[in-house]
Amino acid sequence: MRVVKSLAFLKLTLFHSFKNSFFRLLKTWACKCLERVICKTFKDKERIRAAGRSSAAVLDRLCAMVEPGLSTWEIDEAGGEFMKDMGIKSACKGYRSGYRVFPSYTCLSVNDEIVHGIGVKERILKEGDVISVDVCIREDGFVGDNCRTVPVGQVSPEVARLLRVTEESLYIGLVHALHKKRVGDIGNAVQRHVENEGFAIITNFVGHGVGRTLHEDPQIPNYGKPGAGAQLRKGMAICVEPMVNTKSPRVRMAKDGWTALAEDQLPSAHFEHTMLVDEGIPEIVTLPPGYHHATKFLKTKLEQLSLPIELDC
Ligand code: MF3
Ligand code: CO
Repeated sequence: MRVVKSLAFLKLTLFHSFKNSFFRLLKTWACKCLERVICKTFKDKERIRAAGRSSAAVLDRLCAMVEPGLSTWEIDEAGGEFMKDMGIKSACKGYRSGYRVFPSYTCLSVNDEIVHGIGVKERILKEGDVISVDVCIREDGFVGDNCRTVPVGQVSPEVARLLRVTEESLYIGLVHALHKKRVGDIGNAVQRHVENEGFAIITNFVGHGVGRTLHEDPQIPNYGKPGAGAQLRKGMAICVEPMVNTKSPRVRMAKDGWTALAEDQLPSAHFEHTMLVDEGIPEIVTLPPGYHHATKFLKTKLEQLSLPIELDC
């Protein structure tokens, strides 16, 4: 009887240890697969760098042409032409959200339009406006996504401050895009800077992973707690994109079904870069023309904006 009992016990123990190691193996395998999907290979990274550089070149040219009297349709058409000349495609045009299809080559959002504005003939820029120029392109199978809000002629000091603080918050956030850090580290840094300056962070829209498609996991919110949320890993590509309103964070949708508007009708700003996560120093891939080294560009930007951030290199 005793022998039988201990044999049964042995069987049970063996069964449990087999079951546990099976599940452990399954877990490791699942994690590896997930990492392979989210993290990019060396070749993918080269393609993401190329797509980032091209999207930044288009963005630069469009921002340079902004002036009073121009319609957002004209800017969008120019964007489509630049893309055609460069042999690349818009990742916005034809983008689907449910049954809706995004109609223009770029997203152009004026004043209280926060994000996803459509280029239209009736929207004529005037002195004192601000316009967010958001360019996402596809090149060799990969997407590059970047945005900048620029003044139309001379803007009021308060609006100029909104643009400066939003751009600063992008760089203050993206320096946390490092191996093993968490999305909450980026979000918290962005949010603290914006709110310290008395502006409002938009929470309805967030940054995102990027790769063969425009919006991939993980989400990159512009708010959060340090050390919280998804962990960033070497080789991930992400878009950091703070959207900031002057006073209220509340958002409402325009009738066109795409444009997000500030409920209080005050100006809004949006800055974005595509990043490759690494150890030591974060890599911006949406480098404007004239920059060949991501680190040099980041250092120049931090200096220009007088941000006292020490880079680990
Ligand atoms: N940078 C914007 C975003 O990530 C670009 C959107 S393109 C659109 O949401 F087609 F979705 F509008
Ligand atoms: Co984006």
